[in-house]
Amino acid sequence: MEFANAQGATPLDPNEINGLIPSHITTRTELDRWEQDNINEALAWLDKRRPRDILSESFMRELHKKMFCHVWRWAGKLRQTEKNLGIPFYRIAVELKNLCDDMQYWIEHQTFDSDEIAVRFHHRLVYIHPFANGNGRHARLITDILLENVFNQPPLTWGQANLAQTGQDRTRYIESLVAADHGDFLPLLKFVRS
Ligand SMILES: Nc1ncnc2c1ncn2[C@@H]1O[C@H](COP(=O)(O)OP(=O)(O)OP(=O)(O)O)[C@@H](O)[C@H]1O
Ligand SMILES: [Mg+2]
Repeated sequence: MEFANAQGATPLDPNEINGLIPSHITTRTELDRWEQDNINEALAWLDKRRPRDILSESFMRELHKKMFCHVWRWAGKLRQTEKNLGIPFYRIAVELKNLCDDMQYWIEHQTFDSDEIAVRFHHRLVYIHPFANGNGRHARLITDILLENVFNQPPLTWGQANLAQTGQDRTRYIESLVAADHGDFLPLLKFVRS
């Protein structure tokens, strides 16, 4: 089975596709629907609690698991294969730890304002690309969780767009991530509050 991919999305390898739980799914539309329903359940789960230890590998994995556990057997598990995006898979755990440590330092020392900390966090997380798939949606959600729970700030607007779909807004989002790859965070900072 093959699923068409949006621009800047991670293709799945055959092993990962074998991890699909609902065996009747054959189209991208059905898959998107199942994933969205699962994510809605995760949002309901989040509504009922104030998340703690957001900046930890265990919370990141737990959130990914809640978002995709009905769809993918590897939900919540760190990636075991190389992707067109992301760092080598064996460095993921250590880079997540470095990211969490840097975040603690930036928060404590107010190195940047809250939006810039959030945007730098979001970019580093998708750059690491901890999971086989769902990295964009997971990293957008956890960034909003961080802003609301650590900084008491409203969640980002992310261009007020459905970024899962190909379109102008997704192009602007991906381009701003590419600028961030080169150290320029301004386009992403503007995009997330537009
Ligand atoms: N050049 C880049 N630099 C950093 N991150 C990138 C780059 N290109 C894409 N990304 C990130 O990778 C994500 C795609 O990864 P993946 O397919 O695992 O996520 P997803 O949640 O399934 O996709 P989507 O974001 O389309 O919902 C994009 O949403 C974006 O956040
Ligand atoms: Mg994807």
